[in-house]
Amino acid sequence: MPSSHRATAAFLTAIATVLFSLGASAQQPDQVQVTYSDHVAPILYDNCVKCHRAGGVGPMSLVTYDEVRPWAPVIKYKTGLRDKMGVMPPYYLEKGIGIQRVKDDERLSEEQIETIAQWADTGAAEGDPDNLPALPEFDDSGAWKLGEPDLVIRLDDIYVEGGEADSWVSGVPVSTGLTNDRYVSAVEMREVNDAKNSSIAGTVVGGLYIVHHMTWQTGAPDAGIAERETWPVHELGRNPDIFDPKAGRLLPAGADVIPLTYHLHSNGIDTTGHMELGFYFHPEDYEPEHRKANFELGDGLNISVHGNRPNQELHTYSVLTEHTKISSFEPHLHAPGARMCLEAIWGNQIETLACAGYDHNWVKQYTFEDDYAPLLPKGTILHMIGFMDNVATNPNVIDPRNWSGSGNRSITNMFLHLGQSVGLTDEQFVQEMKERRERLGLMANDHLLGCPLCMADIPLLEEEGVVEQAGAED
Ligand code: HEC
Repeated sequence: MPSSHRATAAFLTAIATVLFSLGASAQQPDQVQVTYSDHVAPILYDNCVKCHRAGGVGPMSLVTYDEVRPWAPVIKYKTGLRDKMGVMPPYYLEKGIGIQRVKDDERLSEEQIETIAQWADTGAAEGDPDNLPALPEFDDSGAWKLGEPDLVIRLDDIYVEGGEADSWVSGVPVSTGLTNDRYVSAVEMREVNDAKNSSIAGTVVGGLYIVHHMTWQTGAPDAGIAERETWPVHELGRNPDIFDPKAGRLLPAGADVIPLTYHLHSNGIDTTGHMELGFYFHPEDYEPEHRKANFELGDGLNISVHGNRPNQELHTYSVLTEHTKISSFEPHLHAPGARMCLEAIWGNQIETLACAGYDHNWVKQYTFEDDYAPLLPKGTILHMIGFMDNVATNPNVIDPRNWSGSGNRSITNMFLHLGQSVGLTDEQFVQEMKERRERLGLMANDHLLGCPLCMADIPLLEEEGVVEQAGAED
């Protein structure tokens, strides 16, 4: 064979090889079958089985293939809801709008949602059980999400008879037994009851517990209401409250925990339970730099929700009277509530800080990562928008034909922001922005959502003083 022919033959073989391998790799995604053992179990083990297992709060166990297989289409549907009422896992912060950096993000990634959907749509195969990841270890003592607290206060037992009407009662104060003042970095609240092992499975999370919510304070046994500290409300399905690291909450020596009101409701069977409050402390020598902000956001009066109407909007505004850091976003609506957004208006700049779906069965708060919490100057207008679905497809609404106004009952409405915020002095505000610019490496043309003055490079007041002094010496 002439050498030129040999070269051509070699060239053609090379081309064929390349084409063959291109073809093979182009087909790859379709050929890899999505299976339970290889792809789906790792997602469920990380995100679902802590609730969906024997003794967990979920209505069914999702640990083995045989348990999961019949649920495949429903799992696809529930995870595909993304941030809407009914989504699993129950966590509703919206992607693609507002600040995304939150501390205990429980959202599935788009890739995970897609994997589950593909699995359900292609026969929900098992795959090779040898490839299953190790099952996570469970702590059946009703594990604390934030780990073992430094101090656990157990409140008195409460008894609710199956079928009893709702009631509002106050509780008996319990001493913390603290001999030193301590600053609290986080608090976690949980109800422990004896209903768990009975056959009430198949209900929503609200059906497992007897405490719908509890308001509480701390203070010296003889302190008047004004001298007490008010803590976040315990509510059904709530995640832990993590306070701003620079604004720990004081739990003074000798204080009592005072359960102001319990809203009790029957879960259908005779149940005895109690609340436990887990406190996480800062080190002994910790001193807070910031204090709680003093704005309120919500409207308790002008709520009018019409019957059989989806997507009804509520609006409320509040002007910040001090520089404010919003540490967490916590929408609070009632049964028809479907979504809430928070917007900051600063001059002609309008920014959506966060939007989240809402399900009155699960009261969630979204704690921003420290460098991403909104830092808003005095004068900013906060605008909150609530979206109400008073329709038959909202399972939380008892009778969508009813008009409803404001009120305490779940079938009437609230429209509140319950998130945590801290107020900042001029110095602290400028300092926070400076540190943030440095830590995040922000440049003059960058933009940080929720921080309208972050790039303004305002000189620190004390630095100005230094400059003046230096000038005087010259
Ligand atoms: C924090 C606990 C918790 C987590 C985490 C959780 N679930 Fe659930 N799940 C529940 C509860 C409780 C219910 C009952 C409905 C309700 O209360 O909202 C439920 C309901 C469901 C249902 C509907 C059952 C029915 O009867 O229709 C499916 C499906 C489901 N979960 C799948 C999942 C999947 C998949 C994950 C993980 C991606 C997950 N869940 C994560 C607690 C949880």
